[in-house]
Amino acid sequence: MTVIALVSAKSSGVTTSALAMTLSSARPSLLAECDPAGGTLRAGFFQAQITAGTGLYHLAVAERAGEDALAQAFADHLVRIDVSGNRQVLPGLTDPAQAPALERSWPALAQVMRVLSDEGGYDVIIDAGRLALESGRLHSSLTPAPLLHGADLVLLVVRATDQSLALARHMTEPLRNELTDRGTGPGALGVLLIEDGPRRAHEVADALRLPVMAALPWEPDTAAYLAGTGSAPRKLNKSALLGAARTALGHLQAAASRRALHKQYPPTPTPPVPAASSAQAAPQVAGVLQRLGQGRVDPHV
Ligand SMILES: Nc1ncnc2c1ncn2[C@@H]1O[C@H](COP(=O)(O)OP(=O)(O)O)[C@@H](O)[C@H]1O
Ligand SMILES: [Mg+2]
Repeated sequence: MTVIALVSAKSSGVTTSALAMTLSSARPSLLAECDPAGGTLRAGFFQAQITAGTGLYHLAVAERAGEDALAQAFADHLVRIDVSGNRQVLPGLTDPAQAPALERSWPALAQVMRVLSDEGGYDVIIDAGRLALESGRLHSSLTPAPLLHGADLVLLVVRATDQSLALARHMTEPLRNELTDRGTGPGALGVLLIEDGPRRAHEVADALRLPVMAALPWEPDTAAYLAGTGSAPRKLNKSALLGAARTALGHLQAAASRRALHKQYPPTPTPPVPAASSAQAAPQVAGVLQRLGQGRVDPHV
């Protein structure tokens, strides 16, 4: 399946879009809230029902104990967001000060997400938050760069306004360079357009010199519900936002498959971890799949 990372230059709708995609996916889906600036789902969508005892930070602790512990912790820290258990969320950091502790864990986490996608059949949506730069490159502790390297697609989320485009323009080159040097190539990079302004997709593509791979409508009511500040729409699944998110995911999956098919990058990207540990990782990571499968209801039966 597909691993999609969403990033922004400035708060633009990354978390809302990632959640809309996760909720609308036709396949089992997993949202990993990996914004180093801290997660907002816990206080928002989850209405503070998830304590600090669950979430991303604990995976950094587990990773230090080895891949087995990481695989186990990964499954333990997922929160189901539908009754079938087919949609799950890894809640993010409770404090930006936790981000440096994650720096050495990102490669292993990228690998777990790859396995969940390739072998577990999950669509994995990564909320990688707002990008930070240092000397023209992605900041090593304030951006989860290894997650971007391992993703099939990296989408720069922008709004259809000149302000949003002006800020996003500064991020395209560092992102392109990063994916060229360490990721699956510059073709992984595209735009997710949030349609809240006057700029049309072709104008955005011209301004950023990137393809607009997907677009989502501006729908304040549904977005407010997803942010935990509004009541549930009568038919969430039929909302314009979730409908468009479903369509967007379809386009993105097709784009990712085309890339893989054309061998623009190896079907199994080289994980950014030392060869010895990557060779041993798969069996342990399989433990995550087993645990995730437990109690899951097949939506097709
Ligand atoms: N498609 C949308 N339609 C309407 N409002 C949106 C949409 N996407 C995001 N928003 C709103 O924009 C604000 C920022 O969104 P959020 O997803 O938290 O951005 P980020 O994660 O990039 O900081 C929130 O108030 C959210 O409800
Ligand atoms: Mg966010």
